[in-house]
Amino acid sequence: MPQYVAAIDQGTTSTRCMIFDHSGRVVSVDQKEHEQIFPKAGWVEHDPMEVWQNTRQVAAGALAKADLTTGDIVAVGITNQRETAVVWDKNTGQPVYNAIVWQDTRTDKIVEELGALGGGQDRYRAKVGLPLATYFSGPKIRWILDNVEGAREKAEAGDLVFGNMDTWVLWNMTGGPDGGVHATDPTNASRTMLMDLDTLAWDSSIAADMGIPMSMLPEIRSSSEIYGNVRERGALAGVPISGILGDQQAATFGQACLSPGEAKNTYGTGNFVLLNTGTEKVMSENGLLTTVCYKIGDNAAVYALEGSIAVTGSLVQWLRDNLNMIGTAAEIEEHARSVEDNGGAYFVPAFSGLFAPYWRSDARGAIVGLTRFVNKGHLARAVLEATAFQSREVIDAMNADSGVALTSLKVDGGMVVNELLMQFQADILGVPVIRPVVAETTALGAAYAAGLAVDFWKGEDDIRENWAQDKQWEPSMDDTRRAAEYANWKKAVTKTFDWVE
Ligand code: G3P
Repeated sequence: MPQYVAAIDQGTTSTRCMIFDHSGRVVSVDQKEHEQIFPKAGWVEHDPMEVWQNTRQVAAGALAKADLTTGDIVAVGITNQRETAVVWDKNTGQPVYNAIVWQDTRTDKIVEELGALGGGQDRYRAKVGLPLATYFSGPKIRWILDNVEGAREKAEAGDLVFGNMDTWVLWNMTGGPDGGVHATDPTNASRTMLMDLDTLAWDSSIAADMGIPMSMLPEIRSSSEIYGNVRERGALAGVPISGILGDQQAATFGQACLSPGEAKNTYGTGNFVLLNTGTEKVMSENGLLTTVCYKIGDNAAVYALEGSIAVTGSLVQWLRDNLNMIGTAAEIEEHARSVEDNGGAYFVPAFSGLFAPYWRSDARGAIVGLTRFVNKGHLARAVLEATAFQSREVIDAMNADSGVALTSLKVDGGMVVNELLMQFQADILGVPVIRPVVAETTALGAAYAAGLAVDFWKGEDDIRENWAQDKQWEPSMDDTRRAAEYANWKKAVTKTFDWVE
């Protein structure tokens, strides 16, 4: 009987369960979107209970769709939107507040205060590889403890615990208040600002600065080992949960970027370029993050340089949901194809400030270069081009940090079906862009981590063997035009600064 590995992908907009066979092909998917809650400008929340219910439903759904039963699944991996913070009561399983999402900027004052303690934006960078920014979990936990009535007392009494979405899902799947496993992996922990990149342990002095009791923090285990079994109820009951990777690291793993110098770009809600730097941690001098890429069992941790871009695919959603300019995300390509070029318009989607390489929380979005000539098609192009320009910026930073120019780019994620965007990406980078057959590399990476722990896959060679190319785009833009377009983009970016005090 063939056997399979399941992956739960708890993403920013939806939760999915995907089931993979030994060759790494998808045999089943079930997916459910959850509500995006925007209580105020700059605030973004998710209901953790809704996310947990969706997780249970998609696990059952994916099994049913492929006519499989729990007995066909040998392991489950978890991958997740990173940084998003949940604080809950471990006795009741009830969150004390909604999950504060990675895109949320409400912690800007906390971040400023922490920087003012000395060291500014780089106060913790040498230890954690990250600049002080609203993006990361630590300040979000602090906000909850400061603002939810009674939370700090309960946390200090040891009743409240924290987790990113991986931990929330793992704890619930393994029994919740009834013996749930409170653990995470180093890739997720490296996004909290609370983990020392060398020791892979929580740093008590940073936790003290942020006023976070150490008892709230999950145990940091590896990315590939058995954490526990799915509790005896519902789909996947009894199956070992044996892989955890933050979604961008999972995509890097699923893309088989397993050697130093290999990189991928995932086109999701945001874009995230990760370059494997091996067991060497490289500190960026050009606005990138240093992060854990994966840690397989007892092997040494592998690190990555990361260029995080907050808004790419979510700009297309914004056009659909907030402006009703398109009916479906796929329509954007149709409109963009109705014109030759962007007509002079550039759209910088600094909706959550700007992440890499700028780290400016004072930035807000701007459309520049407008004339009466500009129509819907030009704006559609500007929207797609924004993704490619932002990717170019972080790849330039990566080339500068590593001293080696990237020779091709592996891509994955939802937006890579957009052929016009892929061609423009190759054009604006000046290097080929390569899409694999399985573009759902995030879930695949988590499945690999889980399957390695139970010997379903034997090692990295299995993963490399499973990777196959689907399509490659060659750059066709001439150098002069490429330089001019990129210079215009850079100028447009400067127009987004200084919008927030
Ligand atoms: O760091 C945020 C990232 O993990 C979110 O990924 O795919 O949910 O947009 P995604």
